[in-house]
Amino acid sequence: MSTAQAPASDVLAALKQKIADKTAKVGVVGLGYVGLPFAVEKAKVGFHVIGIEQNPRRADMVNRAENYIGDVHDEELRDAVKKGLIAATTGFDVVPELDVIVVCVPTPLNQNLAPDLQYVSSVTAEVARHLRPGQLVSLESTTYPGTCEEVMLPLLEASGLKVEADYFLAHSPERVDPGNKRYSTKNTHKVVGGVGPRSLDAAVEFYSQTIQNVIPVSSAKAAELTKVFENTFRAVNIALVNELTLLCDRMGLSVWEVLDAAFTKPFGIMPFYPGPGVGGHCIPLDPHYLEWKARELNFTTRFIGLAGEINRMMPEFTVRKAGRVLNGAGIALSRAKVLVLGAAYKKDIDDWRESPSIEVMRLLVEQGARVSYHDPYVPSFSEHGLELVSTPLAPETLAAADLVVIATDHSSVDYGEVVRASKLVLDTRNATKMHPAPHVTLL
Ligand SMILES: NC(=O)c1ccc[n+]([C@@H]2O[C@H](COP(=O)([O-])OP(=O)(O)OC[C@H]3O[C@@H](n4cnc5c(N)ncnc54)[C@H](O)[C@@H]3O)[C@@H](O)[C@H]2O)c1
Repeated sequence: MSTAQAPASDVLAALKQKIADKTAKVGVVGLGYVGLPFAVEKAKVGFHVIGIEQNPRRADMVNRAENYIGDVHDEELRDAVKKGLIAATTGFDVVPELDVIVVCVPTPLNQNLAPDLQYVSSVTAEVARHLRPGQLVSLESTTYPGTCEEVMLPLLEASGLKVEADYFLAHSPERVDPGNKRYSTKNTHKVVGGVGPRSLDAAVEFYSQTIQNVIPVSSAKAAELTKVFENTFRAVNIALVNELTLLCDRMGLSVWEVLDAAFTKPFGIMPFYPGPGVGGHCIPLDPHYLEWKARELNFTTRFIGLAGEINRMMPEFTVRKAGRVLNGAGIALSRAKVLVLGAAYKKDIDDWRESPSIEVMRLLVEQGARVSYHDPYVPSFSEHGLELVSTPLAPETLAAADLVVIATDHSSVDYGEVVRASKLVLDTRNATKMHPAPHVTLL
């Protein structure tokens, strides 16, 4: 049933007006690493934001103004909740009250490295049940090109409303880099694509309210591909330096010295660094979304497969190297005490999803080592049958370990102290650069 009351252009004009004067109500579905900072940014400029979060604990915490995401400032969340600009709920009954609905739910892979769009689909079906004319639905989750048109659109059209005429559908991929102090959502260019020109128009109006540079592209599909390409670019370049690391190890060269020298070239090169593998919700997963979609077109994305293969080798290589370092001191890995520094997948954040550090710990345990870890951001974790609690970092703890493996280079750790107090160090991040010593081995 199309809107009898207002022609399509009026529906769009009315929505844009509400967005421009901030009377539009914004719904954010999924209040995680992406959704909660997004909600706070919108509230800060005066939008009323309602979070729809299936985890009742998280919804309660938001309503009590208790922050659980590192990139959100406690006082900004407190201020927004106090002013009544942010509230959270667990159900979709509020959808008819909303003018803009932004979807920020997980897009994982299943066990066969194929996209698992169950969250996007179930949320879209719920939104469709309550959809009314004049709304903009925007997908922020990372996904393969075609998701808006092939997955979301049919579910939304089941409402009887027509896209571009009654409601609008767009994709604007989140590019947040957790822990990055220089670039936040606000000052990072935002790519936006609509399933049609009116959807694009509505989405550009919405995103321009809080973001300095909005980059419109011709379709939702182009926006979807842009995001997965960006993460593929990163995965491939990390794989390239990881491959160089494996080669340098055989050549008896320091990959760090070679990279530092290479990156002095002021053009035609870009710094990427090796490590014990890749982690988080993006780099190890997103390229496989594109790989899967390409197969539908009988096309093989060879770089993606190769990058995944090389990056997945790195935890095992790290453990092999740990064994070699211990061997050099006459200690068998199977009898060694190993302290791993860092459980998060990258420095200065608390996210340990897909973390290579945890894979390194699992492999060390599998080889018989007694493993403990320290991470100021990850007090405990339970993964792959491993249940560990972070050990406080003291000189005695370092000295008690046969080997200290620096897996994540959090800035708050004193690496001079680590080098001074430890018997042997395997540094996978070049965190001890300023403290070279014979008992320190770089990856
Ligand atoms: N974390 C990042 O750095 C990052 C950066 C860019 C893009 N992304 C993408 O953004 C998306 C979200 O990632 P994230 O890291 O914020 O995930 P997250 O797991 O931190 O948050 C997702 C939230 O959605 C909630 N949720 C799940 N199903 C729901 C449902 N049916 N209804 C309501 N809420 C539901 C979860 O409880 C959770 O709180 C993913 O596609 C991811 O690839 C993430």
